[in-house]
Amino acid sequence: MRIVPTNKEIKLNPRKYILSTTDLKGNITKVNDYFLEICKYTKDELIGAPHNIIRHPDMPKAIFYLMWESIKNGKNITAVVKNMAKNGDHYWVITDFEIRRDQSGKINRYMAFRQAAPKKIVATIEPLYQKLLEIEKMDGMEVSVKYLLNYVAEQGTDYNGYIAKLEKRSALTLFLLNKAKKLFSNNL
Ligand SMILES: Cc1cc2nc3c(=O)[nH]c(=O)nc-3n(C[C@H](O)[C@H](O)[C@H](O)COP(=O)(O)O)c2cc1C
Repeated sequence: MRIVPTNKEIKLNPRKYILSTTDLKGNITKVNDYFLEICKYTKDELIGAPHNIIRHPDMPKAIFYLMWESIKNGKNITAVVKNMAKNGDHYWVITDFEIRRDQSGKINRYMAFRQAAPKKIVATIEPLYQKLLEIEKMDGMEVSVKYLLNYVAEQGTDYNGYIAKLEKRSALTLFLLNKAKKLFSNNL
């Protein structure tokens, strides 16, 4: 089923987290209630589905390429992501993609912790992503990845550092986020 984007933005509660866990292939294994409320799919529709079920066509491939390269290599990464609900509405989130390991130290799942992306960050990121999409349509993803890496390198950082600079999270935000991460990791 192809969902048509509505261009309507879903207003997120900045104090709530949209959480999910996947297997190593990116198939969803767990979600929290706020995820269900916002994406408008049922739990049955989500569990076992590939995580691109909520992919928005405005998202450049380059971002997911960098994200997968990072987590496959055991490195957490933060990315700004535009997601699409089942009815075509969208929402922007800052997402911490994190690896989890079993007792022997082997990576056994991935987790994503999402919070509403502040308007100011979306205003900066949206034109960059549009540029990456254009490049991808014309010249493919390899070229857009190069463009992105060059863009952030010019600012003396990598993608992760670029996002961290854009969004300086307060001590309280980080404290609450870490608490949610612990809770979700233990209980779901
Ligand atoms: C833990 C985890 C969470 C993810 N969350 C999202 C998400 O919120 N939105 C999204 O579009 N892709 C998410 N992905 C990435 C998807 O697996 C997929 O790579 C992406 O949607 C691009 O889809 P495509 O490869 O079919 O183009 C997530 C992956 C992992 C491992």
